Amino acid sequence: MYTTQEETHNTGDQVMADWHKIATIDEIDPEEPLIVSVGDTVIAVYSVEAEIFATSGICGHEAECLEGGYVEDGTVECPYHSAVFNIKTGEPIEGPSADPIQTYPVKLDDGAISVDLADRKEAD
Ligand code: FES
Repeated sequence: MYTTQEETHNTGDQVMADWHKIATIDEIDPEEPLIVSVGDTVIAVYSVEAEIFATSGICGHEAECLEGGYVEDGTVECPYHSAVFNIKTGEPIEGPSADPIQTYPVKLDDGAISVDLADRKEAD
């Protein structure tokens, strides 16, 4: 059974969200991020111990795509210069990146994965 860490965004009295269906669970390889795009936003989707997470698909180091990166123990390693990020928090753990990668709330609906892009940054 897959789970997520769904969150809501409170802006004053309004709850703002921008959910996009991006993939299904069976598309995800546990050892590699699944890269999808919503408009200009590149997203990496992960399965970590039966829990689904989403981050920016763009590395915090030199803005290369995380496609082909290696997922292990809740981290993703960029295939370019080996920066390692915590998938849950986006924080850099090892390697050349001083900058984190953005994380996104995820929800599941009958195997369909949606991400909330309300907080996406224009620079993605
Ligand atoms: S671009 Fe990812 S580590 Fe350099």
